Amino acid sequence: MKHVISITQFKDKNQLKQLFDRAKEFSQMPREKYPKPLAHATVATVFYEPSTRTRLSFETAIQNLGANLISTENAGQFSSAVKGETIEDSVIILSGYAQAIVMRHPEVGSAERAANASLVPVINAGDGAGEHPTQALLDGYTIYDNKGKLDGLKIGLVGDLLNGRTIHSLIQLLSLYDVEFYCAAPDSLQLPEKYIQLVEKNGAKVTLLDSWDTMLDKIDVLYMTRVQKERFEAIEDYNAVKDSFILDSQIMKKLNKDAIVMHPLPRVNEITIDVDKDPRAKYFEEARNGLYVRMALLEMIFSN
Ligand code: NCD
Repeated sequence: MKHVISITQFKDKNQLKQLFDRAKEFSQMPREKYPKPLAHATVATVFYEPSTRTRLSFETAIQNLGANLISTENAGQFSSAVKGETIEDSVIILSGYAQAIVMRHPEVGSAERAANASLVPVINAGDGAGEHPTQALLDGYTIYDNKGKLDGLKIGLVGDLLNGRTIHSLIQLLSLYDVEFYCAAPDSLQLPEKYIQLVEKNGAKVTLLDSWDTMLDKIDVLYMTRVQKERFEAIEDYNAVKDSFILDSQIMKKLNKDAIVMHPLPRVNEITIDVDKDPRAKYFEEARNGLYVRMALLEMIFSN
């Protein structure tokens, strides 16, 4: 059984390279040539939190590879969770219908709970402020595809590093390689100590900053994130930090000429739309890569 719960399960750089190479192949393959390794399978997508990219790219990947899809797009409101059903019970039931379950849920640790109850592979599509492993894979792929390598890169992480689950997964993936992190965030949203220790243990250097002025001309990748409004208890606390880092064409002038700009999306106002036409802006390409990486991942899960 191959659950995908945490990015820490991916430790083998050869396996990652295979996954990235396969994603590249899918990106260049005519649709009619897609293999159907999931033919006769059914895959369930169950999202208890909003999603556009993750759910729809998974659902496209599932169908591209030949599987049937069953889905509840707003599981928090429309599934039996409303009636008080536990994650465990829901997952046991889904295991009877589907050969894999893709799940997003607002609680940290929910994906692991689901995996413990499930009779089929569970893929974590985001567990609260915990992890988002498949986003890290597509982010890693996007960096690799653009820069031709992952070793030797300086990565700037900006925004809500406390609550951003894409950050928590991505830094652990990248720390398998020889990388250096520059973390620019308001004090209250800085990268939690737990993650600093995890990546430093892997040999990555971490520099914490409250401004991005000193890093823009050093970094190869600028990874922007949204301040995660839904994780705040008081709106005043959100309002106090939401506009701390706004990337616009003026700031872009200070960024390295060959750096790339990424964002897991959705953006709120942390990247102004005038940045979109800059050739260094890769966030829409990054979202598109989600489809190819998720196809490669599903094919891998179903191959053994
Ligand atoms: C992210 C998420 O859900 O964590 N979105 C995504 O999956 N691409 C980022 C976010 O919501 O800010």
